[in-house]
Amino acid sequence: MEQIQAIINLAAGGGKPDQAALAALLGCEGEDEARLLAAADRVRKQSMGERVHLRGLIEFSNYCERNCLYCGLRRANGSLVRYRMEGEEILAVARAGAALGYRTVVLQSGEDSCYTAKMLAEVVCRLKSELDLAVTLSVGERSREEYKLWREAGADRYLLKHETADRELYQALHPDMTFDNRRRCLYWLRELGYQVGSGCMVGLPGQTLESLADDLLFMQELDVEMAGIGPFIPNPSTPLGHCQGGTAGLTLKMIAAARLLLPQAHLPATTALGTVDSQGRQKALQAGANVVMPNITPNRYRRMYEIYPNKICLDDNPAHCRNCIGGIIAGLGRTVATDCGHSPKGDFAAAGTLSEAGTQ
Ligand code: 5AD
Ligand code: SF4
Ligand code: FES
Repeated sequence: MEQIQAIINLAAGGGKPDQAALAALLGCEGEDEARLLAAADRVRKQSMGERVHLRGLIEFSNYCERNCLYCGLRRANGSLVRYRMEGEEILAVARAGAALGYRTVVLQSGEDSCYTAKMLAEVVCRLKSELDLAVTLSVGERSREEYKLWREAGADRYLLKHETADRELYQALHPDMTFDNRRRCLYWLRELGYQVGSGCMVGLPGQTLESLADDLLFMQELDVEMAGIGPFIPNPSTPLGHCQGGTAGLTLKMIAAARLLLPQAHLPATTALGTVDSQGRQKALQAGANVVMPNITPNRYRRMYEIYPNKICLDDNPAHCRNCIGGIIAGLGRTVATDCGHSPKGDFAAAGTLSEAGTQ
């Protein structure tokens, strides 16, 4: 008990707990666990304030050329009906999102090379010129040149979860991908000046507390602007369908530990956490999280973006989700941020101020 409190104090004070200390922290229970979540809530309040940033998520294609063992979009899953939205349709969805008050849109898809770098650059460029939005891309591993083109087109941020910092587990879960290339991509994004989001799944088969500690240490080393942490949810249409999933409890401890180690990072209360626990997002917002990413994908496509089963909000339209989230945030005594929520870290905060000033 004293040992856990010492680790909490060290991390909350800007110290650097090592792998063993972080693994012990993630294994804590009862009163220690409550103290960890409360400490993360305090650090969140101090460094990020009471405002919650919303990001409108557009799932624009569910085609994927990869075969990640855990994911329903994997190419070998023949039971999924596939769709692609065209550039114009993506723009229309983003406009509708902006009309609902979103100041960031996240364009996400499987790894779908059907969208050339040029096509996506064009979409980004039009979004940035027509709407007053921050744009996040999340389309997987591409070449440095492609990332550069999108950055030059105006993309502000990029999400590429590292998924797991355990090299062997990573290789076992990703048949045609490499651990090293994933990391290379993340360092390229960092060099190119993106606000970088990484993250991992919690409760993967074979994952240990030590390996979760390494996830935290990796994100600290990369000094991410965002960290998406969600439970693994077994999908029966994948080879891991029979495995156990991650728990809300361990996921919340990971989010809380991430807040202590990364006081200035944006931490979303993930949809996956809201799926395994109906109060999961609320709990995350009270344990370090300060971002929610409501889905603004049109309803006719939502059901088909089936990464895992029983995803929340499948029958709810974007306006409904916007209201629902607004209610949840108000219910916690917090407010919805009205700015686009760039990273508060040095360079990015300055960029945010400039673009905000330019629109007034
Ligand atoms: N459970 C939880 N999260 C998953 N993802 C993919 N499959 C699953 C699953 N079964 C997450 C991964 C990936 C993102 C597209 O969704 O972290 O980065
Ligand atoms: Fe494709 Fe991403 Fe799913 Fe892997 S996790 S199969 S890359 S959508
Ligand atoms: Fe979609 Fe609550 S966020 S219904």
